[in-house]
Amino acid sequence: MSTSEPQPLVADVADLKHCCATFYASDWARLLHGESLHPGGLALTGRLGSLLGLEQNARVLDVASGSGRSAVFLAERFGWSVIAIDLADEHSTAVVAAAAGAGVSDRVTFVRGDAEALPFADGAFDAVICECALCTFPAKAVACAEFFRVLKPGGRIGVSDVTRNGSLPDDLASVLAWVACIADAQPIAGYRSLLAAAGFAVDREERHDVVLRQLLEDIRTRLLGVELVVKLQDLELPGVDIAQVKSLARSAEFAVRSGVLGYGLLVGTKPLSASVPSVRLGPGFRAQPQPADTPS
Ligand SMILES: C[S@@+](CC[C@H](N)C(=O)[O-])C[C@H]1O[C@@H](n2cnc3c(N)ncnc32)[C@H](O)[C@@H]1O
Repeated sequence: MSTSEPQPLVADVADLKHCCATFYASDWARLLHGESLHPGGLALTGRLGSLLGLEQNARVLDVASGSGRSAVFLAERFGWSVIAIDLADEHSTAVVAAAAGAGVSDRVTFVRGDAEALPFADGAFDAVICECALCTFPAKAVACAEFFRVLKPGGRIGVSDVTRNGSLPDDLASVLAWVACIADAQPIAGYRSLLAAAGFAVDREERHDVVLRQLLEDIRTRLLGVELVVKLQDLELPGVDIAQVKSLARSAEFAVRSGVLGYGLLVGTKPLSASVPSVRLGPGFRAQPQPADTPS
């Protein structure tokens, strides 16, 4: 099955978003990923940060921040003021605690909100980053238009995400696979088209496929550990089918090894001449057609 068009696999798009937000706020996500919820961890966040090339005290928005590990790291490393925004309010406590622990409480704030309807004024930020989350947004073009709107002219966009090169097998097109950032992953050219259609000049593209392979290997090891503990302690994990998660992880590893799945990073700029859109796009409004299903 080809997943070039976003085809939400549950009837209601709101359910899909809720499903994703709930999973990444759960102990399961921490168990499988650790604190940083994207391949490449803080090392890749550091790479993205360097490519943005911002001054100290720049105002940065981390869209779909999860527990805020990247936001705190960027505030510490580069001296930026970062607002972490995520659909799941549960991350608020973790962000506040991590910021306090790192001594950057004055520079990291959490806001609950939707990437497809950002609660900020036009031109409010010097940069927007979005790590391993654009792939999960049902209305990707709307989210990209929102990134563009909240940036100043000359502002920078940095995205890293799971990439797809060709069609995915059916077992990687489930709701679970959507939540796991796989089912609606785009070719890297697709992310480039989405950003360009929103108005960005994309000036850098990098492939980091190896970090996805490493993360999946780590997840396999962690799953074995979970299975052992569950068996030894005769535990129940409500709502979780370990066999299904293991099977998804195995298929994903195979897709990475065969070059179908990878991880990419894109950096761009909002042109200085850009004006902000006169009409604010609301959720559910598709600003631009989705990019063609062109293997990268
Ligand atoms: C794979 S995690 C990545 C988290 C973080 N960027 C990181 O790299 O550690 C995906 C995150 O996207 C968030 N998310 C999903 N849909 C969203 C939306 N429409 N608006 C804001 N956050 C969303 C989820 O709650 C989850 O925290």
